Amino acid sequence: MVKKKTCVFISGNGSNLKNLISNSRNSNFPVKISLVISNNKSAYGINYAKKNKIPYIFINTKIQNYENKIFLNLKKYGISFICLAGYMKIISTKLIRDYRKKIINIHPSLLPKFKGLNTFQRILKNKEKKTGCTVHYVNENLDSGTIISQKSFDILINDNENTLRKKTQRLEYSVFPQAIIKIFRYN
Ligand code: GAR
Repeated sequence: MVKKKTCVFISGNGSNLKNLISNSRNSNFPVKISLVISNNKSAYGINYAKKNKIPYIFINTKIQNYENKIFLNLKKYGISFICLAGYMKIISTKLIRDYRKKIINIHPSLLPKFKGLNTFQRILKNKEKKTGCTVHYVNENLDSGTIISQKSFDILINDNENTLRKKTQRLEYSVFPQAIIKIFRYN
């Protein structure tokens, strides 16, 4: 199997990156993590790239033309698939057009509910009975692309933002790789 050269975009802890790297060691997993891009120089997740000898790049999104730098690096490393894993920046329309249906994102809610930031806070405030995570294609509208996979769990009376985050992330570690397998099974 020829694995798709994949870039993972991160901004922080990178636990999903770590999990994807570990899944990609399986010869049947359809992608190889060939590049990591972070918009945050001190993102802990960069350590997983270093440890696994995966090229990584810091992109300063405050400089003009940073999108071009992203694009050139994607080309340089032959990237054909992109996973947003806790990347807290909006992706440019140009990149979305160049990689149409080739960029996916993981979001910590049951989309279309709770798009955007501060999801756990809003979920609790809204007294939701269930929550979960969603993997979806990235299009021009925030957290609105076609859903690939979604899984939920029941919210318990004692749950708070911290416990919801932990439970959601635990679910993410199975849903993200499953979504990738699902995409390439039909391609
Ligand atoms: C993940 O839980 C992901 O769902 C969330 O950020 C976390 C990153 O964790 N993404 C968003 O909120 C996107 N709007 P990680 O850096 O440990 O993978």
